[in-house]
Amino acid sequence: MKHLACIALFGIAILAPLATIPAAGEKPTPWRPFIPVDSYANLTKRSIQTIETKAASGDKNAEARIEVEAILLAGYSLNTAAKNGLADYRAAARYAADMARSGKSKELVMFSQRVGKIKAVGDTSDVTKYTKGTDLMMKLMFSKAKGGEGIHPDLQYLPKLKNLNGIEALLGALANKKLSDENLAKVSKELPPLAYRVAVIGALTHEFTPKKDVEKWRDYSLTMRDASVALAEASAKKDAEGILKSALAIESSCIDCHSVFKNK
Ligand code: HEC
Repeated sequence: MKHLACIALFGIAILAPLATIPAAGEKPTPWRPFIPVDSYANLTKRSIQTIETKAASGDKNAEARIEVEAILLAGYSLNTAAKNGLADYRAAARYAADMARSGKSKELVMFSQRVGKIKAVGDTSDVTKYTKGTDLMMKLMFSKAKGGEGIHPDLQYLPKLKNLNGIEALLGALANKKLSDENLAKVSKELPPLAYRVAVIGALTHEFTPKKDVEKWRDYSLTMRDASVALAEASAKKDAEGILKSALAIESSCIDCHSVFKNK
C-alpha cells in the first residue's frame, strides 16, 4: 500500500510540469512576459503620466480614470519581459488605486516622484484588489463621447475613426478591411502599444471570473490577450495581413464574451 502511494505521488510529480498543473494551492495565472522591454517602459511612463495629470485635473471622472489606469500599470508589470523594479511599480499602482478609491486622488499629483518609494501593502499581484470588476476596463474601450479613453491621432486613419475615436471602433475597422500601405505606415508606431494595452486588459479580465461559466470566461479573455499580442507583433512588423487576422480574432473574443456575459 505504501509502495503504491509512493508510485502515485511520483507519477504526479513527473506529470505536473508537463501539463503545467499548478502546485497545490497555486492558482493558474494569465501572466506571461509578452510586453517587450522598450514597450513596457513606454506604456508605464504613459500610465504614470495619466495618473498624475488626472490627479491634478479635478475632473469629475478623475477617480475612476486613475483607478483603472492603476490596474493597467500593475498589469504591465505582470506581463513584461522587463525585470527591473516591477514590484516597485506594483506597490505604487496599488497605492494609486487605493487613493483613487478612497477619494484621495490629490495625493497623486506628484505620483511620478513617489514611484519606488512606496511600500507594498498586501499581495500587489492580486489584481482583483485594485478595482471591483471589469466595468472600468471595458469602458476604456468605448468611444470618447461615451466615456472611453479615445485613440492616438495616428490611429484615426479613417474619417469615421476621428468621430468615433475609441478602441472598440478601431478594432472593428482593422478587422473590417486590410490596411492600405499608406495607412499601415501611419499606424505602425502607435498600434503596438495600443495592442499591448488591450492584451493586458484581456489578461486582467481573466482574473475577474463570474460565478457561472468560468471556463468560457477564461477562454474568451485569454483569446483576447493572445490575439492582441499577435496584433502588436504584426503591426510592429508592418504585416497588413497579420493585422487583419488578429483584429478579427480579437473582435470575435469581444463578441463571444459579450453574448454570454454582458447584460446578464
Ligand atoms: C471575458 C469577457 C469579455 C471580453 C473578452 C470582452 N468583454 Fe467587454 N464586457 C464584458 C462584460 C461582462 C461587460 C459588461 C460590463 C462589465 O461588467 O464589465 C462588458 C462591457 C463592455 C463595454 C461596455 C461598457 C459599459 O459600461 O457598458 C464595452 C465598450 C466593451 N465591453 C468592449 C469590449 C471590447 C472592445 C472587447 C474586445 C477587445 C471586449 N469588451 C472583450 C466582458 C468581456
